[in-house]
Amino acid sequence: MNQKITVKSFQQFKNEGRKITMLTAYDYSMAKIVSEAGVDSILIGDSLGMIMQGHNSTLPVTVDEIIYHTKCVVRANKNALIVSDMPFLSYHVSVEDAVRNAGKITKESGAEAVKIEGGKNVINQIKAVIDAQIPVMGHLGLTPQSVNAFGGFKVQGRDTENAKRILEDALELEKAGVFAITLEGIPEPLAKEISEKLTIPTIGIGAGKHCDGQVLVVNDMLGMFNDFVPKFVKQYADLNTIITDAVKSYVNEVQNGDFPEEKHTYK
Ligand code: KIV
Repeated sequence: MNQKITVKSFQQFKNEGRKITMLTAYDYSMAKIVSEAGVDSILIGDSLGMIMQGHNSTLPVTVDEIIYHTKCVVRANKNALIVSDMPFLSYHVSVEDAVRNAGKITKESGAEAVKIEGGKNVINQIKAVIDAQIPVMGHLGLTPQSVNAFGGFKVQGRDTENAKRILEDALELEKAGVFAITLEGIPEPLAKEISEKLTIPTIGIGAGKHCDGQVLVVNDMLGMFNDFVPKFVKQYADLNTIITDAVKSYVNEVQNGDFPEEKHTYK
């Protein structure tokens, strides 16, 4: 599709029963590939804290780092909807903080929407950001910024009470005006129920096939990031092996004097 994707397209896709595709990207080169390959939306996720920076959680990521990476992605993007994560503590303390940081991210980076983790606990912040005319994507289930409160990266919504809370949060978020909700790390039947009850689209990651769309971390699905591979990740390529082999060949050829050849040399 050669048309610019907007938050309105997301709703149109759900209405038409057309699945929505989303991938993360954090830099110009990858975003160019992802965008030209035709993904509907690019997420500058705070997963960059783990994938790009090597932290063991997303918690250390700052607003300025999200802005830096979003700017790199925006320069490469053609038609995808650009969504940037609001990092940990950029919206938790106050409504004012939430609006100021969401505004800073969209104003300085070119993001077209922000993603905020949480339900009722952050509903006032989400409403205020939407009132400031910044589209918000919700994020429920295994919300990685709650890793310490959850006691690890654990599937959520397995017990009735927890599942009920996630469903109630989803309905609250829809009422507040979010344009879509990421459902992460929840059982498939719960994701199905939420997707059927909501009029706005759900984008799943580790939430089964009944969501209105899917999102994956690009380095995971390309087989580049092998520190751990969650059950929900499908590796569509083995770039780790391809890159390792290429680097080994380069090292060998330089050491043997086989590179550079005539054709790589200025006369
Ligand atoms: O930070 C991120 O990349 C995310 C996705 C995994 C949904 O939130």
